[in-house]
Order: sequence, then C-alpha cells, then structure tokens
Amino acid sequence: MREPVPQDFGSDFLWGTSTAAYQIEGAINEDGRGPSIWDVFCEQPGKILNGHTGAVACDHYHRYREDIALMKELGQDVYRFSVAWPRIFPTGKGKLNSAGIDFYQRLVDETLANGIEPWLCFYHWDLPQALQELGGWTNRDTTGWYTDYVIAVAEKLGDRVGHFVMLNEPMVSSYLGHFLGLHAPGMKSKEAFLSAVHHLNLAAGQGLTALRTQGGDWQLGTIVNMGLAPQIEGADLEAAKLHDEILFWPFLDPLLLGHYPESVDPLIASYVRAGDFQLIQHPVDFLGVNYYFPERVVADSQAAFGFREVPPPDKVPKTAMGWEIRPASFTDTLMAIKDRYLKLPPLYISENGAAFVDTVESDGSINDHERTEYIQKHLSAVAEARNAGVDIRGYFVWSLLDNFEWAYGYDPRFGLVHVDYATQQRTPKASFRWYQQFVRAAKES
Ligand code: FCB
Repeated sequence: MREPVPQDFGSDFLWGTSTAAYQIEGAINEDGRGPSIWDVFCEQPGKILNGHTGAVACDHYHRYREDIALMKELGQDVYRFSVAWPRIFPTGKGKLNSAGIDFYQRLVDETLANGIEPWLCFYHWDLPQALQELGGWTNRDTTGWYTDYVIAVAEKLGDRVGHFVMLNEPMVSSYLGHFLGLHAPGMKSKEAFLSAVHHLNLAAGQGLTALRTQGGDWQLGTIVNMGLAPQIEGADLEAAKLHDEILFWPFLDPLLLGHYPESVDPLIASYVRAGDFQLIQHPVDFLGVNYYFPERVVADSQAAFGFREVPPPDKVPKTAMGWEIRPASFTDTLMAIKDRYLKLPPLYISENGAAFVDTVESDGSINDHERTEYIQKHLSAVAEARNAGVDIRGYFVWSLLDNFEWAYGYDPRFGLVHVDYATQQRTPKASFRWYQQFVRAAKES
C-alpha cells in the first residue's frame, strides 16, 4: 500500500482526535460525581492489570485547558469526547447535578474558543453504578433513563454542540461487559449480553427520536467498532460470517434496515417488543466507524455462539496490544459496510490508532515511528475506500493522550501525546508532529 498523500483527502475532510471521559478525566469524587460501573469494576481484585484505576487518569478534569491547547497546536478541526453520565446524574436519574454540567460547559467553551468543533458522545461505557444495581443494560428501563440523560445534556449544551453521538461501540459494552466479563460490569451471561444488545439499540433509537423532537439543528449519529475477519486463505469463512452476524451487524442492521441479522433474530426475540424497530431504525446524519484490527475466528461447537476468537499467527505484525496490523482489512471492512446497505449515511473514522512501547529518550523526545507508520498505512486504507466510492468525511486518531486503557490500565500507550503519570507532564510524540504536518498539508491541498 502506498503512503497516503494529503491530496487523497481534500480540504474539507475533517481531522480530529478522540477521547473518553473515564479514560482521561480522573476526579472521580469531585463536584458531586456519582460512582460508575468502571469505578466499581476497578476496585475488584484482578480485573485491571496492575490494579490500576481511572481515579486520577490524565487529570484532564483539571488540565483540560492545557489539553485543548495541545489540540489547537495539532491543528485538528474536531474533537470527540464523552460525557460521564454519573457527573450529570450521580445516581443515573432524578436530580441533575449542575456542577457536573458546568465542567462540560467549560470544556465546550474552551474547545470552541480554540476553533475546534466539539463532537459529544453520550455514552462511552461509564454507566452510573446506581443503575447497574437496577440491572443496568439488562433492564429495559435503562433506555428511558438514558433518554432523560441525553435530553438534559442536549438542553444544556446543545446551543454550542452541533454533533451528538449516541453510543460508542455498543458491541464492546455488551459483549466484553456482559458475556466475556472483561469489562464493567463484569457479567458472563449469554442472556445478559443479548438483552444488553437490544437495550443499547433501543436506547440509541429512543434518544435519537427524542432529540429530533427537541428541534435543535443537530447532526446526530452513533459509533460502531468493526474489523471483519480477513478474507484470506485458510480463514474459516463460515465461522467469520457467524461471528460478524452476532457481534458486528446487530448494531447497524437494526439502525439501517430495521431488523436483526437472521442468526441473531431467534436469540434476541424475547427482548423485542412491538414497535421497537420503528424507534431503532432511524435516519442518522452520520455514522462513526472505529477500526483497529481484523478479528480472526474459528468454528467451535462447544462455544456459546458456535465460534471462538483466536489470536493472529505469530508471523503477522502486531501492536503492543497483540492486535494484528492489517490495513487491507480496514478497506475491506469499509467496503463491506457500503455493500451491505443501500442507503448509508456519511461515514467518519471515529477511532483508529495504536499502542506501542514508547521510549522517552534522554533529551525527552519520543520517536514513535511505529505509531506514525500505523496511522499512515490506515489512512491509505481510508483513501482506498474513498476512491472505491465509500463516503468517508473525517478521521479521528485514538487518542490525543496516553490514557487508562480499560482492563489493561496505563500500560498501553495510544497517545499522540505522552503522559508522565507521576507528574502529569504532557509531551507531544513524533507522531503528533507528523499528524500536525499532514493535517496542515491536507487543508492546503
Ligand atoms: C476502543 C475504545 C476506546 C479505546 C480504544 C483503544 O475500543 O472505544 O475507548 O480503548 O479501543
């Protein structure tokens, strides 16, 4: 794959970075914030590598001005962040915590003052713990509390925020959180997973419908993660198809087609009520796709859904997460999305990036060439999909800063900016400088 050139994207393509509240904010007990399922999960021994927690993270809650200054220096057009639901409603519902809203007012104002457009994601996995105690996403009522929360945030911030994202990667919060038990709330049940899938879809649909009736002039969309199994020799295509039907398509099919994939339908039917698909199938203004690596799967008749994820072969290149580096699968995934839906809204690559072991040199520099190369190759993959007719209008690097990488704690570093967690000092890496120049050249092209 050739190197990407700025002209591949054109001057109106949007460039950004993405972050998430729990991964960067810290300040978990400040200004009335209630506990989230991630605070509770982090306290359970053995759940997070090295016993790390998001209690302090990047201390972005106090350092957001410095972080936005970095974004400005980077030259990005757009910034996607998430709101912590338990800052707004400490117990998930009821009385709004205005000190929580105030933080996001300051954040949004500062972002705009620096010429960057904020994209606000309502849910990046940090459900208020009080709602988990009522069943969380396995309880259909959570969809109503989510809708109330969404409306409250839009009422307070919708005069300045033009783009709202309903959910980040509902596959990860349902499957890793409710079936594999690797993420909060740490459940391991097929039924919990299936009910969470449907309730997350329903929440997004109800939230979208409610926002539309508010009459704001907003661009509304949602974000899924995808990484279809590579169509290469030796791949188990049947198992891969089943995997994708159970894990990837159940979020886009209901939204864009108004039904679940055939193999999911019978599994999930008991959670679906009359009228649900009318709410879920919604003409969104954009769709975000997060891509990191292709899934590899094999058939396994003993497994709950008939397949099992397997690690990539030793010889393939990988990131520090052990994730396979295969940009061609990114293009294939984007093409598959286009081919599956007759009417597809514009796409944005809402997350893409990589963790590598970074070395801080004696002069303080971080020459993370592998990260730059990963981004370059994946931008080429995006350019290829665009040339093949996929309407992709922007790209957000994951992530601006090194941050709390969920079950892996602070070990993996995904940032364009290095964070020294002992001092909270930020240092732009070489990849930051590369992205800065590429973005500048693209805008001038
Ligand atoms: C995605 C998540 C994001 C981050 C990256 C590495 O699945 O949305 O929060 O953890 O992976």
